[in-house]
Amino acid sequence: MDHKEILRWLRQDDPQALEELWARADKVRQENVGQQVHLRGLIEIGNYCVRRCAYCGLNAGRKDIPRYRMTKDEILACAAEAVEYKYGSVVIQAGEDPFWTLEFIADLVGEIKASTPLAVTLSLGERSDEELAAWRAAGADRYLLRFETSNRELFDHIHPPLAGLHSDRPAMLGRMAEMGYEIGSGVMVGIPGQTYEDLACDVEMFADLDLDMIGLGPYISHPDTPLGVEAPAESDQTPASEELTYRMLALARLACPQANIPSTSALATLNLAQGRELGLIRGANIVMPNLTPQQYRPMYEIYPAKACIRETAQQCRSCMKRRIESLGRTVGDGAGASPNYIARHAQESGDATCVH
Ligand code: 5AD
Ligand code: FES
Repeated sequence: MDHKEILRWLRQDDPQALEELWARADKVRQENVGQQVHLRGLIEIGNYCVRRCAYCGLNAGRKDIPRYRMTKDEILACAAEAVEYKYGSVVIQAGEDPFWTLEFIADLVGEIKASTPLAVTLSLGERSDEELAAWRAAGADRYLLRFETSNRELFDHIHPPLAGLHSDRPAMLGRMAEMGYEIGSGVMVGIPGQTYEDLACDVEMFADLDLDMIGLGPYISHPDTPLGVEAPAESDQTPASEELTYRMLALARLACPQANIPSTSALATLNLAQGRELGLIRGANIVMPNLTPQQYRPMYEIYPAKACIRETAQQCRSCMKRRIESLGRTVGDGAGASPNYIARHAQESGDATCVH
């Protein structure tokens, strides 16, 4: 797929024509990652954040919201629940918060890896190479860091730099891949100021970065954030719609056939009845049921009216299973590493032992 073709799909409005895109994405999904839908237990360990991302409800500028951090024992109890529910992995996510030190996370990861068969994914924001390497050494398998948009100017506009530091997420992702992480990234669809051209470049960046995991969701305006009150841009603005998100999902699948791609909560937020399912039949092969203890859920309010915040972890699990089986798919077993990562590693270890 070249840039032009990606753009053509992004702008395609004919529902008949789009059926072809959905069918192609579903076929490529089936051929490359199969019928299994893997469950990742999401543990939102804290909502403190030092950043001021203009779109995010957790941004440091919001002084008036309740904040929390889970204790190590609480986090370990969630991991135990993941094992009980037969999830293959947990995603440990938080705002960017120095409270989560190199030592704390390394210990936590070490304990989870020593006492469970879970794959551990970290999603703790932009962290130093030293921290990332230590966490990898402690056993962390995967890291998620969305680049949010490939448009540098737009990125800078919505991510005020921290202490003057220039962030370069694509470069960070490259370094994480070198450290041996399975790497995940992604974007929001419909960010004010984002164009169709930008989205086409985003898809190309997924392929350039050789992503193992791709997370995509619609931008959902939060009224108490700087971006939530900004006037929408005029020309070529992408809508933050369910429909355009499916197109991006399908295109992500075509660009990175062997990646693991979740059908996200943001999508379910726009369409609670059908969003998860439609994502799963238009390219996705992962869902992320929430394991965060109920008393903390409402505080992890990245955007308003987030889907599934009232359900208990157990309800979330049953609901996801039912949705997966209603599509004639099966709940995945094992850690569910992306075939893209497995192939990259086989190649690297092959290269390393090559005598020629
Ligand atoms: N709408 C949709 N997604 C959001 N995220 C953050 N804020 C919003 C919002 N207002 C997404 C970002 C981030 C992920 C954890 O949540 O893409 O990387
Ligand atoms: Fe979230 Fe069902 S989709 S609990």
